[in-house]
Amino acid sequence: MVALHDASTIAAVIVEPVAGSTGVLLPPKGYLERLRAICDKHGILLIFDEVITGFGRLGSPFAAQHFGVTPDLMTVAKGISNGCVPMGAVFCKQQIHDVFMTGPEHLIEFTHGYTYSAHPLACAAALGTLDTYADEGLLTRAREIGSYFENALHSLKGARHVIDVRNIGLVGGVELESIPGQPGKRAFDIFLECWQRGVLIRTTGDTIAFSPPLIIEKQHIDQLVGTLADVLKTAV
Ligand SMILES: Cc1ncc(COP(=O)(O)O)c(C=O)c1O
Repeated sequence: MVALHDASTIAAVIVEPVAGSTGVLLPPKGYLERLRAICDKHGILLIFDEVITGFGRLGSPFAAQHFGVTPDLMTVAKGISNGCVPMGAVFCKQQIHDVFMTGPEHLIEFTHGYTYSAHPLACAAALGTLDTYADEGLLTRAREIGSYFENALHSLKGARHVIDVRNIGLVGGVELESIPGQPGKRAFDIFLECWQRGVLIRTTGDTIAFSPPLIIEKQHIDQLVGTLADVLKTAV
C-alpha cells in the first residue's frame, strides 16, 4: 500500500491483531512486528482493534502484550464492561494525547463530545468489571483453560465438512466447506440446529467462530464442542 499510494497519503493502519469477524485468522509469525516496523519507518500510526482480543481473550490482558507489539492507539469495547452495558474506549500513547491537550485552550481537547461519552452507568459497569477481572484473575485465565479448549476444538478435525480448525487463547474458528453457490448456508443451518439443542454459536461466512466467556469451565467446553460434533454428523 505504501508503494502504491505513497506513505505521505497514509495517516494510520488499523488491524485486528487476530482477525475475528473475517473468520478467526491468526497473524502469521512476525506479521505484526513487520507492520510495526513499516509504520515506524514511514511515520504511520498503528491502531489495534482489540474489541475482541482485549481484556484477556488471548490469555494476556491485551493482544499487544501477547504478541509483544505496541500500537499507537487501541480501540476496545465488549470486555471493558463485560458487554453488560454498552461502552467503547480508545487508548493512545502519551504523545498523541498531549498533542490534543497542549493546544490553544479554546480548541477541543482529547476528550470527544459523544452524547454518551463517559456515561456514569457504563463507567460504573467498567470499573466493576475491571475489579472482577483482577479479583478472579480472569485476564490470564485463557492461558489455563486455553489448552483444554484447544484440544476440544481440534477433536473436530476430520469431522464431516470441517476443512480447518484455528485457535488462540479462548478464540477459535472451525471452518466448514461451503455448499457450492451458497456460501454461509451450511454454517447457518448448523447454527440453527445448535440453537435448538441449547448451544449458541456464532458464524461468519462458513466459519464457526467461538469466543466463549472467560469463566467457561471444562464441562461447558464439552457441551459446546460435543453438541457441534453431533450436529456435524448429520449436517447437510
Ligand atoms: C473486532 C471488532 N471491532 C469492532 C467492532 C464494533 O465495535 P462497536 O460495536 O463497539 O462499534 C466489533 C463488533 O463486533 C468487532 O468484533
